[in-house]
Amino acid sequence: MMFPTPTPPTTAIRPPDGLIGPSTEEAVVSIRNLEFWYGQGSSRTQALWGVDLEIGRGEIVILTGPSGSGKTTLLTVIGTLRSVERGAVRVLGHDVVRLSRAARVVLRRNVGFIFQAHNLFSSLTAFENVRMATALKPAPVAEMNQRAEAILTRLGMQDRFDHLPAQLSGGQNQRIAIARALVNEPALVLADEPTASLDPASGQEVLTLLHELTTGPARTTVLIVTHDQRVLDRADRIVNLVSGRIISNQRPALVVHICEMLKTLPQCAGLSASTLTRIAERLTVEIHRPGEILVRDGEEADRVYLINTGEAEAVAKGVTRTLVTGQIFGQLTAVTHARAEETVTVKTPMEAYVLTSPVLQEVMQTDKALADRVKLDLMGRQ
Ligand SMILES: Nc1ncnc2c1ncn2[C@@H]1O[C@H](COP(=O)(O)OP(=O)(O)OP(=O)(O)O)[C@@H](O)[C@H]1O
Ligand SMILES: [Mg+2]
Repeated sequence: MMFPTPTPPTTAIRPPDGLIGPSTEEAVVSIRNLEFWYGQGSSRTQALWGVDLEIGRGEIVILTGPSGSGKTTLLTVIGTLRSVERGAVRVLGHDVVRLSRAARVVLRRNVGFIFQAHNLFSSLTAFENVRMATALKPAPVAEMNQRAEAILTRLGMQDRFDHLPAQLSGGQNQRIAIARALVNEPALVLADEPTASLDPASGQEVLTLLHELTTGPARTTVLIVTHDQRVLDRADRIVNLVSGRIISNQRPALVVHICEMLKTLPQCAGLSASTLTRIAERLTVEIHRPGEILVRDGEEADRVYLINTGEAEAVAKGVTRTLVTGQIFGQLTAVTHARAEETVTVKTPMEAYVLTSPVLQEVMQTDKALADRVKLDLMGRQ
């Protein structure tokens, strides 16, 4: 592809608020190069490989991946239910690798666990199981009772307060477990298939509840393993784990935003939605400061920039033009065998989405129309 001077879009396309850019707050979960093994000696097997993950406050992050890929393992490590042998793991400001027993108790109080095994107390009623958890965040008795009642009622359990777990269905026990995990509005929720055994209405209520917690005063952070399509609309990020490795970590809203920008480019006209999505998913976000020279006239280059915010100045043969939101510049010499034909300098703080040759070549392999487009584009130059 690429890249004659594009026409600037008439209106700048802005990403939704808070979509991109480094958070100024400390991450709620911060994992660097985590390796995790089960077993000892000859039965020792590695379940997580070089996992890096950063989750900010108030985010809803979906963890997906095939069975056995390490999703539950990762949740249990973050929840301090398993200890870390190698790597750095910080959760809610605590260094989990070097956590004292007392600090672990404090940390776990701020985490709401929703795991497949319910771990309810069999001798306590539905209400008592939830009420017990409220004691971790002490308040006047009437208020703790009211909190337990309110959350059970929201989850459709108002007629089952006095039932024991054994007298309830799997889905009802799951709802008690969810009520217990969420009743204190924890700072972090770790949820493993929370809606899997629920009917559609209760599943929806659980998702709504989780969403409310993330946007409410607690600004709860949610890491959720799920195949429930309904969460997709609410997810800030989708992390895909395969064979113990994170193979992608995407912000769906950002991918949609980049697709919207790509669609306005003449170079992308006629490309299918799936090809645009594949390109958008693989672009990386870069921040550049004024004065940086990103492309030099006459030199080989392997980057094409799509400007999201900020401005740059391009100089070619003594002619200067300003590049703004929605415009592209740069060169993929490995694909086009051409050198840059202008020098581009950043003028105001810039955020750009960057495409490299390997990415374009990878997408071209799966999309003949795109490959043909690039070839035609190259022929047109000669
Ligand atoms: N307690 C254990 N002891 C030994 N190996 C384990 C243990 N728990 C899990 N594993 C292994 O670790 C790997 C990851 O398991 P994990 O339970 O994290 O997968 P998962 O992605 O949650 O799968 P699923 O979708 O089926 O729940 C698997 O190969 C599994 O066999
Ligand atoms: Mg699992």
